[in-house]
Amino acid sequence: MHVRVKIDGNEMEIRTVWMEENRVVKMIDQRKLPHRFEIFESPDHKTTAFAIKEMIVRGAGAIGVVAAFAVAQAANTIRTSNFEEFMKELNNRLDVVRASRPTAVSLFYNINRVLSAVRKCGNVDEAKDVAYDEAQRIAEESVEICRKIGEFGAELINDGDTVLTHCNAGALAFVDWGTALAPIRMAHYQGKEIKVLVDETRPWLQGARLTAWELEMEGIEHYIISDGAAGYFMRKGFIRSVFVGADRIAANGDVANKIGTYSLAILAKTNNVNFYVAAPLETFDLNCPNGDNIPIEERSEDEIFYVWGLDDEGAWRRVRIAPFGSRAHNPVFDVTPHEYVTLFITEKGLVKPPFKENIQLLIRGGSHKK
Ligand code: MRU
Repeated sequence: MHVRVKIDGNEMEIRTVWMEENRVVKMIDQRKLPHRFEIFESPDHKTTAFAIKEMIVRGAGAIGVVAAFAVAQAANTIRTSNFEEFMKELNNRLDVVRASRPTAVSLFYNINRVLSAVRKCGNVDEAKDVAYDEAQRIAEESVEICRKIGEFGAELINDGDTVLTHCNAGALAFVDWGTALAPIRMAHYQGKEIKVLVDETRPWLQGARLTAWELEMEGIEHYIISDGAAGYFMRKGFIRSVFVGADRIAANGDVANKIGTYSLAILAKTNNVNFYVAAPLETFDLNCPNGDNIPIEERSEDEIFYVWGLDDEGAWRRVRIAPFGSRAHNPVFDVTPHEYVTLFITEKGLVKPPFKENIQLLIRGGSHKK
């Protein structure tokens, strides 16, 4: 499976992110897609934190896995044999990773998961191996979790459906498969005819650049639309369902996801379109009672002012589209209140309203502990 890549007629399958035995973390450089396919190599946790911050790797799941890899990288070069000192130094080193991006809870969840495995062993040499093994386990589990989300979600897609997705919650946003795109991919493999409308997703254009690239590689029929066009297509009755991912979901079911998700959810409700949120259980943050408690990242104004891509001669260009005197606001996530969500698609199955009760039941009842 993996991310399917076709370059110059050659086809290969590759994971979005992985860590080698020497602790070098490798990742598809998402800043360069769809026009260039390059692998970025990170030798240490500080470079990995840089890769997250600069969106060389992005998407909640991929960020989470890479953060787990960063713990293994940080642990590996600590030079003390005193376990208490080791733990203290490891914790300090991880601050740069914690500070990289605030909204996707998987980053914090996976750092804590690796740290708690390490804390149990009490011996520095063993701890370095435990950090490596636990991080690799998280990556493997992520693939399987997303595959299950694909299976449960595919049941919601009928032959002949047109669906809409926002941002990129595909294989590039995880290790493989993705969340919102997993049901679409799975339904396609099941032989269902599907059309996908892809919101371009200003300002970083994850939809136009990344989701469109993934669908193109998979041979799934898709059309990029401007973000403002979704209502037009819903009102015409063209769209049966919207599939989005999530960066963090509060205990009551409020969803933080890519900016523009909230407007889409309102449009979907107004036009009787299903609004599905696909996410692994680790995305549910029971420490946030509702969406108001979710930290929302603000990124540089330059993401609004400039676009980049290939010009007609094939040269890479960054061009300014806004007046030099203008200012911009760039919150990159918004919160969709739970009442706009039709269903959550998780690796344990579909979650229906009432969300607060059913989320609690699923998380407390599952193997997943918060
Ligand atoms: O800023 P990004 O590209 O890291 O944000 C990703 C998203 O918000 C996606 O929409 C996604 O649903 C969450 S990642 C599965």
